[in-house]
Amino acid sequence: MGHYQCSLVSAMMSGHRRPPPVIAHRGACGHAPENTLAALRKAAGLGIGWVEFDTQLSADGAVVVFHDERLERTSDGHGMVEETDWEVLGGLDAGSWFAEAFRGEPIPTLGQVLGVLEELGLGAVVDIKPTLAPAAETGRAVAEILRREWPESLPTPLLSSFNEAALAAAAGVAPELPRALVVRRVPADWPARLERLGCVALHCRHQWLTRHTAKAVTGAGYALRCFVVDRPERAATLYRWGVAGVFSDFPDRIATSPDGRPSR
Ligand code: G3P
Ligand code: MG
Repeated sequence: MGHYQCSLVSAMMSGHRRPPPVIAHRGACGHAPENTLAALRKAAGLGIGWVEFDTQLSADGAVVVFHDERLERTSDGHGMVEETDWEVLGGLDAGSWFAEAFRGEPIPTLGQVLGVLEELGLGAVVDIKPTLAPAAETGRAVAEILRREWPESLPTPLLSSFNEAALAAAAGVAPELPRALVVRRVPADWPARLERLGCVALHCRHQWLTRHTAKAVTGAGYALRCFVVDRPERAATLYRWGVAGVFSDFPDRIATSPDGRPSR
């Protein structure tokens, strides 16, 4: 039995294994620069048990944690992430754009992030973001690292992506890893898509979700989660509709009890 399979078995045998109702989006990215180790530490410091972060490939095949296709918005680099080698990406400052206090905060690799998740005891939704590279290549690379290096002590990670080819490729490498399809609006053919990809969950923007659609998705047995929700009143409405969780830039604003359950 490989490292990941051992992790999966131990995960299934212990409690609190599923993402809680509040997940820190890109780390707690309202408080610290998104997708950095500092953002993960902030989430843990706020008492949030799970984080979401974004993954993509560097030009030379390293899996890095970064959201945008281009480097400019959230680092001092220039150009496309997928056209830049790790040697360059690893030397960039991904913190000072957010606040001077974070100057020098680096772009982490997925491997570095896994080390910090283990140290902090954080669960994770790992969002796959292929841009230029063939999506299947990114999906495979992310799944292979999770399968090999996911810390045994942590709950099973949830893989997610807007990109169906990336999810399908990840499923080929690590079929045992649960998957979520990410969409903006819930498409009419959501049942066929979730079924085809073997997904356990659908993640959508909350703005366009209706109660009717929420009931249909959850009634079919899928977990439904929404992004990005920063207002507790909105989260309360979504929970009433059966939404299992929200991704929040300010997860501390969504009132929770210590075990991560909504206090309402
Ligand atoms: O995984 C939910 C959310 O992160 C998807 O949107 O663009 O923030 O990755 P984005
Ligand atoms: Mg994301």
